[in-house]
Amino acid sequence: MRKFYIISLFSLLAALASCSRTSEQSVVSDRTAQVNVIPQPHHLQMAEGAFRIARDTKIFIDVQSDEMLRIAGFLNERLSSAAGFSLEISGTMPESDAIYFMNAGLPAESYGMNVTPDRIVIDYGDGAGAFYALQTLFQLLPPEIFAGSRQKGIRWEVPCLSIEDEPRFAYRGMHLDVCLHFFDIDFLKKYIDIMALHKVNRFHWHLTEDQGWRLEIRKYPLLTEKGQWRKETVVGSLKSGIYDGTPYGGYYSQEQVKDLVRYAAERYVTIIPEIELPGHALAAISCYPELSCGLEDHYETATKWGVFKQVYCPKETTFEFLEDVFDEVFELFPSEVVHIGGDECPKASWKECPHCQSLIRKLGLKDEYELQSWFVTRMEKYINSKGRQIIGWDEILQGGLAPNAKVMSWLGEEGGIRAAQQHHEVVMAPHQKYYLDYWQGDPDSEPLAMGGPTTLRTMYDYEPVPEILTPEQSRYIIGVEGCVWTEYMDSPERVEYMAWPRMCAIAETGWTRAGKDWDSFARRLETHFGRLDYLDVGYCDAFFEPYIVCHEDTRYSKVVTMSVDAPGAEIHYTLDGSEPGPDSPVYAKPFVINRSQTVKAVAVRDGRPIGDIKTKQF
Ligand code: ACM
Ligand code: ZN
Repeated sequence: MRKFYIISLFSLLAALASCSRTSEQSVVSDRTAQVNVIPQPHHLQMAEGAFRIARDTKIFIDVQSDEMLRIAGFLNERLSSAAGFSLEISGTMPESDAIYFMNAGLPAESYGMNVTPDRIVIDYGDGAGAFYALQTLFQLLPPEIFAGSRQKGIRWEVPCLSIEDEPRFAYRGMHLDVCLHFFDIDFLKKYIDIMALHKVNRFHWHLTEDQGWRLEIRKYPLLTEKGQWRKETVVGSLKSGIYDGTPYGGYYSQEQVKDLVRYAAERYVTIIPEIELPGHALAAISCYPELSCGLEDHYETATKWGVFKQVYCPKETTFEFLEDVFDEVFELFPSEVVHIGGDECPKASWKECPHCQSLIRKLGLKDEYELQSWFVTRMEKYINSKGRQIIGWDEILQGGLAPNAKVMSWLGEEGGIRAAQQHHEVVMAPHQKYYLDYWQGDPDSEPLAMGGPTTLRTMYDYEPVPEILTPEQSRYIIGVEGCVWTEYMDSPERVEYMAWPRMCAIAETGWTRAGKDWDSFARRLETHFGRLDYLDVGYCDAFFEPYIVCHEDTRYSKVVTMSVDAPGAEIHYTLDGSEPGPDSPVYAKPFVINRSQTVKAVAVRDGRPIGDIKTKQF
């Protein structure tokens, strides 16, 4: 970590106090094990003792701004619901028994924290740093701090320690597709709250699609009057051919959007809206067919998932429409970066369209890929002229990257590597590692998903800076993002099940500067689950269950492997269909199955099962 140059007097004193205590004790690593913060802080040094937050503890803020009062207010909100008291916020410096917020001129988003038995000193440089210190402080308190109701008999103690912390990446994102399925504003606020707890600072809001347009645009009211709707939705996988016969819709009014943007900003989350172009545009085209190449008599919002050939035609009417849409987007979203999609744009319509073909000739372009690049570059020029920047999915590299574009690399790493080599900023979101609509366990026992499996461990272990990049090129990797496409997530509960805890792993990769360590993460996550329970987050608890994998071997045999994420757990199993328990054989190494058999397994720790029994039939 860079050294902090300006250190407040208080933190210096506190650090000295904590140093002297640290040197007296020799069990630092054991004590560190009591601290379970996700994402892992950069530098953490434990000391002896604890600071207790009680009714007469005070909060001192050195700058009486609305922002710092709001941050202190977040602490009081949690205390008043979980502890039944809130703290006096003071502008004059108490002698002790206080939580001191001191502006020490630290870099953006960074903070320092010193906890001694008589005070907590938080050093920050901006509101985000102070807010992130608070997120860490919450995780240093007992998990009950996250409870929505009064918790009796809890000592609200914070262990003595010192922390210096700052993020690895500036862009730490989480995406949500609200088009394939729609989610109301209250759920989005909860989603943002949980992101912020993990120091995730970008909410990529996927607002337009073939299957529905979700953002009110005042100049084009049909987009939501009509374009929010699809007449029915495919049931099962996209190939089932069976539909539910039920109209499906939903959209956000501009007032709701402004409210959410403000809510997110107060939690240091920037909302990046995505308006898809030139593909994934069928909902808009169904409202305004003149935006298409005009090859069909009738256009309808899509009723299943996938890629559709009806895309925007690059004509003046379309550019006028898109520029109008972005004008309203700029009014709603202060984000410097807007997402223009750019993925999966089939070229079939452009190949048939007389206008597109004559435009290719007139502009001297080689093919439809260069036409796509011209389309994106023209939109980029407009968006840049309004002081904003574009980011787009990998495919905006096809036919040449627009001059100032950032790339969100989802197809793998190749697009991200090429963009970084061309000195364009990149956010890594490779679908094989960071798509949260993929199975997180055995597809035989998990609900319907889009691909994978992509386990918690796979996500945790992913390193987003490809080795092939030089140190200079690596600087163009500005961050990471987890993507939640909602084909098979039709409720908030399903989103939470797919997103958490895998998003905890991505958050740690985005924040923690060095030394990611799975064993440490797994240990910390176990405590963290308790926090998520209090926050009523319906995460997947496959962490406590065996993951049984059957590897094809010969025609007559399969090799079975089993693993479990929960630290210190053993897997006990049976092969005769009976329920496994602590007395069943322990899985020690891979074994062969060469006849029809049922493997049943359970994770056991300290002589007790810790999760559900998993069954796999061969
Ligand atoms: C994408 O998943 N089509 C970006
Ligand atoms: Zn056309």
